[in-house]
Amino acid sequence: MDETSENYVADIHNAGYESEYTKTMLDHRRLITIAGRESESLNGKWFFHADPYDTCRRAKWFKEIRHDGNGAEQPVDWDFDAWERISVPDTWNIRERELFYFEGSGIYVRDFCYVPKETGERPFLCFEGASYETSVFLNGIFAGTHDGGSTPFTVDIGDLVKANRQNRLLVVVDARRSRFRIPMDNTDWFNYGGLYRGVYLIRTPKDYIKDWFLRLVPDGTFSKIRLDCGVSGRGKILLEIPELGVRQEAAIAADGSCVFSPGPGKLILWSPDNPKLYDVSLSFHSEGGGTDRVTDRVGFREIRAKGQHILLNGKKIFLKGISVHEDHYLLGKTTNPEIVRATIRDLKEMNGNYLRLAHYPHDRCFARIADEEGVLLWEEIPVYWAVAFHHQNTYRDAENQLCELILRDRNRASVIIWSVGNENADTKDRLVFMSNLVQKARTLDETRLVSAACLVNTTKLKIEDPLSAFLDVTGVNEYYGWYERDFGKLSAILANSDPEKPVIITEFGGGARSGQRGTADDLFSEDCQKALYQKQVEMFKQYPFIAGLSPWILYDFRCPRRFNRYQEGYNRKGLIDADRKTKKAAFYVMQAFYRER
Ligand code: GCU
Repeated sequence: MDETSENYVADIHNAGYESEYTKTMLDHRRLITIAGRESESLNGKWFFHADPYDTCRRAKWFKEIRHDGNGAEQPVDWDFDAWERISVPDTWNIRERELFYFEGSGIYVRDFCYVPKETGERPFLCFEGASYETSVFLNGIFAGTHDGGSTPFTVDIGDLVKANRQNRLLVVVDARRSRFRIPMDNTDWFNYGGLYRGVYLIRTPKDYIKDWFLRLVPDGTFSKIRLDCGVSGRGKILLEIPELGVRQEAAIAADGSCVFSPGPGKLILWSPDNPKLYDVSLSFHSEGGGTDRVTDRVGFREIRAKGQHILLNGKKIFLKGISVHEDHYLLGKTTNPEIVRATIRDLKEMNGNYLRLAHYPHDRCFARIADEEGVLLWEEIPVYWAVAFHHQNTYRDAENQLCELILRDRNRASVIIWSVGNENADTKDRLVFMSNLVQKARTLDETRLVSAACLVNTTKLKIEDPLSAFLDVTGVNEYYGWYERDFGKLSAILANSDPEKPVIITEFGGGARSGQRGTADDLFSEDCQKALYQKQVEMFKQYPFIAGLSPWILYDFRCPRRFNRYQEGYNRKGLIDADRKTKKAAFYVMQAFYRER
């Protein structure tokens, strides 16, 4: 290190500066349950500046040192309170024209006053999603760094926050893509940056509920409920489900679980036709005397794979779905309940019951609303395309995002499938990497199906992937009629395949600019897209091992790899235009197909 050289200057000779900010990682081990707690929003206007060279972290601007050791004022290069202000949550790419393609670091600064409510309480900062790497500083002190652009993280600020006075919160969000991150640096979607989901403060008692998981025991009896609960401190858990007459002091077993039965015939199972949710409350009475209480609304249902079928509550179900990105032409990657409800309305107008939330964890509100609306969900981590499967840190990043997703959503009945990736080449490193992720998912959640969107074996013209042996359901992406024009190959693939497990066609489709008319052979015309969809669904009818579909994709979405005259920076495979209003002809092909199913 050049620190020993006699002309060393910290502000310029700081090549290895990042190592300082990876000493404290805000990963799933520090994540505490947020749902059902009172929270104080820190959303709104924050001071902001783009920081292309990451100078704030290099030169430690967050310390706000304006004077030297002798008290003389120094020339500084920052002026936080004089900067423009930007909204949180939001994506800077959309809000600031000159930042449309900016993928560096952004510095967010705001003050907040912290007034303790109870003696011994523990304050936490909660971030619902920031893309991609986020370093948090409070009152000039580094609090930790989170890796991952779509999952929540929490920061215990008990030792850093100052009571009854203004606290300076500075957050650096680095949106750079990297070969060694999840996703890696080449994807087919727009890399939005920033604090694009909510930031807020929550308080817990000194001893608190860290995480919990309440679900139907998947033993085919639909009668037993299991609670797992992780706590900080020692004490007793009281579980209450009033409508089921459950008021149960749960003696948490050594493995953190307790199983009980609400009594025969009492439980109304959750399903798309009857999305029944129960009010639940969990109270943790700690030996120290405090009580931590969280509430939620939970649906109880069982999902399982049996032979080539998927069973919901013991009955075969066909997943009538479509894929969606978290991409909005006015909001970028930021979403809200109104947008989610509009998406579900469009799905139901298509006679659908299922959505593939591609290719990363969507906002927390999506699964909560899907619970209420009776929509089944596939949720996924962005182990996408040519990930650095040989790289230890890459695996750690993937596994951490998977844990954060599952810890966030495993109490959501609508979520039936965890996906560990999309379209990855079949190599030894990939098989080890993804089978380990599958194993990790099962240790956190024994109740859901685990899958991945795989590619067909184009040499054998067959649905065959070594990863399938580890999965409950095999996702298959195929673009016959588009990237590969010869439908005969699709016909051969389906005829050659007799998979042991259910298959979901997780992607098929083609591009069309809404309003572009032509023949079935005119690429990017609605007529070409419609003809392709008609041929695809016609073929699926003959194969019972196909247990569901999620064609690519519901809405056109921004993509900086798509620049022909029809695309103009958008991937146009949507069945609805990016305006989220204009439906293309192929929409009605899926609507009719799902009506018949
Ligand atoms: C792939 C990929 C999608 C992509 C799509 C396309 O299958 O999974 O993310 O957008 O194809 O080419 O449009």
